[in-house]
Amino acid sequence: MASRRTIPALVAHGGAGAATAGDERGERRRGMLAAARLGAKILQSGGSALDAVVATVAALEDHPLFNAGYGSLLNSEGNLEMDASVMYAHPVSGPEVKRGKETRHPAEDDDYDVSAGAVALVSRVRNPVMLARAVMERSPHILLAALGAERFARNCGMRLVKPAEMISPRARERWRARKRQQAEELAQAAARASMLPEHGTVGAIAIDQDRGIAAATSTGGVPGKLFGRIGDSAIIGAGTFAHVLGAASATGQGEAIILTSLCREAVLALAEGSPEVVAREAIAEMIDATGAEAGVILLDRRRRIGYAHNAASMQVARFDPAGGLRHLWLAPIARVGRDRK
Ligand code: GLY
Repeated sequence: MASRRTIPALVAHGGAGAATAGDERGERRRGMLAAARLGAKILQSGGSALDAVVATVAALEDHPLFNAGYGSLLNSEGNLEMDASVMYAHPVSGPEVKRGKETRHPAEDDDYDVSAGAVALVSRVRNPVMLARAVMERSPHILLAALGAERFARNCGMRLVKPAEMISPRARERWRARKRQQAEELAQAAARASMLPEHGTVGAIAIDQDRGIAAATSTGGVPGKLFGRIGDSAIIGAGTFAHVLGAASATGQGEAIILTSLCREAVLALAEGSPEVVAREAIAEMIDATGAEAGVILLDRRRRIGYAHNAASMQVARFDPAGGLRHLWLAPIARVGRDRK
């Protein structure tokens, strides 16, 4: 079956949050580029956007400097509880219609199959993003959590690891340092204030040559989070969204991202604005509604890219065949000039 081809593109983020320590900047940059390069190679060899975003996010999950998979932050009890999600929109071609010399596929432009999968509160799976994909492809559900998600992983043939194997020495040391800091009495309001996002939730969005559009996000959550807390990265529409119009992945304070359905709102707004403008507006609206810190990456079906955040810093890696692979540290948005272009 013939299909209209497009030029692929991918954007990955390594989280918005506190300024990165100088000695970690180079290593984070290398980690971002290596992960995005994996996704870019998949797209360049004709692979799907879904394969590309999952490979990119899985590589970031394996990196100890990112707050996902092996590098995940620990919850208030010193345990690991990871969240991840994927969403995939791919075109469904209609039957061929011959008109003179022309062959058309009437359904191609608007007809997309859309599917999603997510996991929450998992601690025994090396790559939560792969489990999210398995939920999407191999279960009738969208979100599985905790022991049920891990049992499903085992039934899918995934190896379960001991939770201790997933805790990096860096994450354990950070948790101890936080506990020392919190040894004094901590009022609930102060605890809430301490739930500031920290660098490292990871995500990727991509479009492939067959116009498939995908998004994936993975996180260890926010520092100091309570046992059982689920963040935006497990919630389709909040931390992850992919649709006919484009794809988005978010980072930052999950409660604010969930309250504002950040990724779904941003993708739907692509009907009226460019990703660059929509990303800035989405973050500005999130600030107005919640006063929190967050970031978002956006891609539309025309392969235009946008990103915005209001944290101290955020890093992205982007790929397209014309521009190649690039890494950027993004400045926070200025709180003016929110008019649509
Ligand atoms: N954005 C990551 C979280 O809040 O869990």
